[in-house]
Amino acid sequence: MSDPAELRGEQRDRWEAVGPGWEQRAPTVSAAGADVASWLVEAAALSPGGRVLEVAAGLGDVGLLAAGAVGAEGEVVITDGAEAMVEGAARRAELSGLTQVKVVRMEAEWLDAETASFDAVLSRWGYMLVVDPEAALREARRVLRPGGRIAIAAWRRIEENPWIAIFRSELEARGLTAAPAPDAPDPFRFGADGTIAELLHAAGFVGVGVEVIDLVWKFQGLDDWWEHTRSTSSTVGRAAAELSPAQHYQLREVLDQRYAPFLQSDGTLELPGSTWVASAEA
Ligand SMILES: C[S@@+](CC[C@H](N)C(=O)[O-])C[C@H]1O[C@@H](n2cnc3c(N)ncnc32)[C@H](O)[C@@H]1O
Repeated sequence: MSDPAELRGEQRDRWEAVGPGWEQRAPTVSAAGADVASWLVEAAALSPGGRVLEVAAGLGDVGLLAAGAVGAEGEVVITDGAEAMVEGAARRAELSGLTQVKVVRMEAEWLDAETASFDAVLSRWGYMLVVDPEAALREARRVLRPGGRIAIAAWRRIEENPWIAIFRSELEARGLTAAPAPDAPDPFRFGADGTIAELLHAAGFVGVGVEVIDLVWKFQGLDDWWEHTRSTSSTVGRAAAELSPAQHYQLREVLDQRYAPFLQSDGTLELPGSTWVASAEA
């Protein structure tokens, strides 16, 4: 593995770069991830007046949903390591008018929160992207009160997720991106059966339960899909920016062909994905 501090810096720069894209594409992400957000909030077994921490929150979908469950007398702290994400989440929180929501920048591995101060920690598609996930999960357990709950989501294997698998294989085959190093931050790092449960146990959690949720990414068509992918994935965004117009056209032609089987009769595109959802007790 490269130097962890250097890797953290690299990862942070990547997320800062795509923060505006995530804010622009928030409705697409919220729609695809809605069932996952509901599962996580339900698994946290929240009550009115509860305190919730959302980690690696991006635009804060899960925290905003949890705010309804804890009510105006509760508190939801939405956090992310990238300032650009925090700014976007703060704008959404303000628009929501939910006074129990606070948005702050926070590193998952070093939570700036008191020990045993939260009833629940929630994170959708965050922990597998942290440089040291076990350290981050230990931090989550530290800030949970005894008996507090964690609920997290992480993608299953890449084979179950053609929405990424197809473009990734094309970019790698062209040498535009490199395959991820083993155990480096990656969407599919927790993909193998049993990995999430092992990590939660290693961090000291008990009563671990893991389920699968299959979901669908919906786009207006292939151009909308490409726009989404380019603006939310720093890897694709960077690779695409380096292509000449001819190379760009050629890549799009191949990708369009490979994604064509997922086009619907009305021209919209529906790409399947599959994620683990897990919950446990501190
Ligand atoms: C794939 S996005 C998921 C965003 C959001 N949770 C959702 O489901 O829409 C991953 C997020 O994790 C954040 N992140 C990555 N590493 C982090 C770290 N070490 N500490 C805090 N946030 C981190 C990124 O900034 C990004 O917003």
